[in-house]
Amino acid sequence: MRLNAYLARAGVASRRGADRLILEGRVTVNGEPGQLNDDISEDDSVAVDDKLIKSQKLRYILLYKPDRTITTLKDTENRPKVTDLIDIPERVVPVGRLDFDTTGVLLLSNDGDLGHKLMHPSFEVDKVYEAEVKGHITPKILDLLSNPIQLEDGPTAPAKARKLTENKIELTIHEGRNHQIKRMLAAVGLPVKRLHRPKYGPLDLAGLKSGQWRELTKDEVAQLKQR
Ligand code: URA
Repeated sequence: MRLNAYLARAGVASRRGADRLILEGRVTVNGEPGQLNDDISEDDSVAVDDKLIKSQKLRYILLYKPDRTITTLKDTENRPKVTDLIDIPERVVPVGRLDFDTTGVLLLSNDGDLGHKLMHPSFEVDKVYEAEVKGHITPKILDLLSNPIQLEDGPTAPAKARKLTENKIELTIHEGRNHQIKRMLAAVGLPVKRLHRPKYGPLDLAGLKSGQWRELTKDEVAQLKQR
């Protein structure tokens, strides 16, 4: 495992933060100055500012994200963070983002490699969203959403679009751009009133209430890794 990933998993810093520590010469591997491309195994002894770092167990958490929580780790407004809801010793971070007012499935982990992989659009994890919108969902709208939509950061990949009720639509996408669903729906004239994510790849919210979380099973982790 790369040295920055090892430090991130141990909860020392983010990967980028770990790179900075390495470049500042504050990290040693078996007593020698650590290098960015060092490959760390279980037997290596890694220290930051001469303090020995213990590697942490990999954790994979599925949270039912409640409304009015943020997925970013720093916030100038001091709003409640999703990570405040999970009291475990390991430092897990959200895989991708959900908006402050979006609810539903959120994966958190300290497995940086998996997080990286899952967030890459080429990985094509299906994310299912249910949006309550202002306006009516017509066959024309469904057709527009099933084709690329021109957004300011480029065209979207076609979504799977399904009408649930007069003003509720289900969209399945595999990209994860900022505010993507809200922007796609705004582009077809449907402002979003409420947004919920019931599914992320093989994961859903069965058995969880808003704000609750559970550990993924070994099978679920294997399914995510296999993609
Ligand atoms: N798309 C959005 O607009 N917001 C989210 O939180 C997730 C997807």
